[in-house]
Amino acid sequence: MSKAKTNAAMSALKLVPKKGAMGLGSGSTVAIFAKELGRLESEGKTDIAVVPSSYQAYQLANEYKIPLTNLDLNPELILTVDGADEVDRRLDLIKGGGGAFFQEKIVAAASKKLIIVVDESKLVEQLGAKFPTPVEVLPFSLGFVRRRVGAMGIDSSVREAQGKLGPVVTDNGNFILDLRFSKAIDDPGRTAAELKMVPGVVETGLFAGMTDEVHVGTDAKSYVLRK
Ligand code: A5P
Repeated sequence: MSKAKTNAAMSALKLVPKKGAMGLGSGSTVAIFAKELGRLESEGKTDIAVVPSSYQAYQLANEYKIPLTNLDLNPELILTVDGADEVDRRLDLIKGGGGAFFQEKIVAAASKKLIIVVDESKLVEQLGAKFPTPVEVLPFSLGFVRRRVGAMGIDSSVREAQGKLGPVVTDNGNFILDLRFSKAIDDPGRTAAELKMVPGVVETGLFAGMTDEVHVGTDAKSYVLRK
């Protein structure tokens, strides 16, 4: 377990309210957070229910005995704690290394605050220079979406599964295309909107203007970046 990820997760743990509903993101840093949240619950220090952002988050909540809720019972959440793959200076994000960004974005949008937990290696000047941008695509539309993004000058590859032959099938039954742009992304909000206009793209891993705080862990400490 990475000390930096633990420091980020422990920093965000301080924001957990005494009572109410929050979103639980996905990924290895969130897994550390979930374990600690479960400990707080078992010690009676908090009384929180979570909306899980993926099957992984659902399993984490069950493993650590964190009560579950949903967006029908709790359409507004106090906050969400989630990971990210890249964070730029505006606190815009690329998410989706774990393929869960569609539900993650819904849970984040339902939250009054989005708190991101990362190790320092995720901080970048501009999004998209290193990490590909994932888009979740309806399987029926795959060939068309690839042609359309190709015409926008973007290279795409279908994310392949590990432990199964063929493509990754998301928690929502869709495929993922990983996009590589010819240069870093200048305006993540505009790029996200353009991609979402392509019929068949159900969501993008670009989270623009959504983040409130980024809790950054190093091996020695943590610090917080705010909007
Ligand atoms: C899941 O699809 C992602 O958005 C994760 O939140 C992201 O990949 C960060 O994961 P780690 O905390 O494992 O780096």
